[in-house]
Amino acid sequence: MKIGGPADALVIPRDLEDLRKLVLGARREGIPIFLLGGTNLLVKDGGIRGIVVKLNRFQKVVHKAESFYAETGISFPKLSQLALKAGLSGLEFACGIPGTLGGAIVMNAGTREGEIADVLESITTMDLDGNVKEHLKRDLEFSYRKSKLPKGIIVGGLLKLESAPPEEIRARMDASLGHRRKTQPLQLPNAGCIFKNPVGDSAGRLIDELQLKGRRLGNAQVSEKHANFIVNRGKATATDVLSLISEICQRVKQEKGVDLDLEVKIVGEDKTSHEY
Ligand code: EPU
Repeated sequence: MKIGGPADALVIPRDLEDLRKLVLGARREGIPIFLLGGTNLLVKDGGIRGIVVKLNRFQKVVHKAESFYAETGISFPKLSQLALKAGLSGLEFACGIPGTLGGAIVMNAGTREGEIADVLESITTMDLDGNVKEHLKRDLEFSYRKSKLPKGIIVGGLLKLESAPPEEIRARMDASLGHRRKTQPLQLPNAGCIFKNPVGDSAGRLIDELQLKGRRLGNAQVSEKHANFIVNRGKATATDVLSLISEICQRVKQEKGVDLDLEVKIVGEDKTSHEY
């Protein structure tokens, strides 16, 4: 969203050994670690205390028969392109989802065409003692935009894909990207859908029916293109976005009787008065 206060520190580890030193050092000193990688994210105006870690250098992908083992810093669209090149189907839905594989696993990212849990076999994590372990999908609880994962950092994912003719894979990717471009405000900073869809319904449709498209608080605006997106029209603050979210929730509850559930994760701290 191009919103949010600063991180105290940003660390980009080179490899697993570097990450291990960081995890152990931070644990010894009692410093919290926050993994950045998802984009369904709103960082509050006071920023994030502790160490923010990006796994940009964790990009390796090993292709064996119909599977990919991928490190989790790789971007989800890039992984989807690699699958196309390898003639493997299963990641077409990922071609337009910004963020990393790690971020996608944490929130079981997906579209109406599929979600990461559909193709995931196992994840590899580094626990808080620096040990690397594999966990099978059947031991992890994935549901709609939700997962229950062991404590630690996800460093890899094993994906089971299926051979398919590349032109068919490309056609599905084009259709997915085309739908996105037509219906979503991709040119303006946003955090993806703000709310989960209520069972059998669409949060975007409900908000749209209340004529909230275009509603603006400060520089935060309900997208004119898709009502489940909030876009940053300039220098919006997290406070603007949070006020807009709470207004939408109240109106949808009052007028539609539906409790909307946030999809976007809100992290960080409020700005203290002396910072203004
Ligand atoms: N609709 C409206 N007005 C709007 C937006 C949508 O009436 O402003 C209607 C559409 O006409 C359609 C229905 O609502 O009949 C569903 O809309 P759409 O196809 O855009 O899908 P969505 O349910 O709003 C979901 C995912 C998106 C994903 C798209 C496409 C959620 C919360 N959203 O959106 O994922 O890209 O399907 O597969 O599950 C995300 O999760 O961040 C995200 C962008």
